Amino acid sequence: MTTTSSRSAQAPHEPEAGAPIHGPSGALEIRPFDAPVGAEVIGLDLSRPLGAADFERIHRAHLDHHVLVFRDQRITPEQHIAFSRRFGPLQIHVLHQFQLAGHPEMLIVSNILENGQPIGLGDAGHFWHSDLSYKEKPSLGSLLHAQELPAEGGDTLFANMHLAWDTLPAHLRDAVEGRSAEHTYLAKYAELQKRSPWRPNLSTQQIAQVEPVVHPIVRTHPETGRKALFVSEHFTTRVIGLPEDESQALLAALFAHSVRPEHIYRHRWREHDLVFWDNRSLMHLAAGTPDHLRRKLYRTTIEGDVPF
Ligand code: SIN
Repeated sequence: MTTTSSRSAQAPHEPEAGAPIHGPSGALEIRPFDAPVGAEVIGLDLSRPLGAADFERIHRAHLDHHVLVFRDQRITPEQHIAFSRRFGPLQIHVLHQFQLAGHPEMLIVSNILENGQPIGLGDAGHFWHSDLSYKEKPSLGSLLHAQELPAEGGDTLFANMHLAWDTLPAHLRDAVEGRSAEHTYLAKYAELQKRSPWRPNLSTQQIAQVEPVVHPIVRTHPETGRKALFVSEHFTTRVIGLPEDESQALLAALFAHSVRPEHIYRHRWREHDLVFWDNRSLMHLAAGTPDHLRRKLYRTTIEGDVPF
């Protein structure tokens, strides 16, 4: 089996909480990290119903910080799903093999094999990506809840794609102005299938669910109006209207710029963390787990808008 360890030698920011932002509704605090994205939400137990005022603060914090970390959440899959649904309808991953039993909205992300069979998608996040960018309506956001963590490794990295756009050199801005790119679920599928046990052969029906789509290379966040780069090494295959060599060179330059260390926050998981990120603002990467260590998380994805 191929290891997924030791990817990305970036030197990203660590999650040091900054000054708390105290809101009007009591104990809930949003503590921004000293990092290009991310904040910790303190004082919220997601096993209990969330009132309208607290929901609004979480929604606002998500737009402001792009990654929210809720520590020590002892929640059931049903509670995880219910909280996710507050933000929109949930999407069902094409790899139905890795759905949590009885909960098609929940994808198991895990490197664990039971009786020689994978119980979840072990190489989710092997390449930088934005979840479900290969759909007409890519994901608004994803919520990943730690179930079982390795003693070492297993971090998740997030790249701020607003910063990637804001700092893009002028010649690259000119090159992408008004252009679109194709996103394909199958782009790296065969490559991943060769190196891991987590990629089953897809049925005709599954392949039909993931037809290639075209999205603008620079998208506008539908809620904040901020622009973000929207291409990834995992799913973006070509720039529409450019010869193949120019297309590949441009994408390579955009990918390299996007994941510069100053755009990245590294999440080091703690037991029962729930992490909620914005796929319209970010890309993410699973940094890898040594093969002999077990890692299991549950993920929901919320449907977003057609990018513009
Ligand atoms: C994912 O890409 O959603 C999974 C990320 C991770 O396993 O850290």
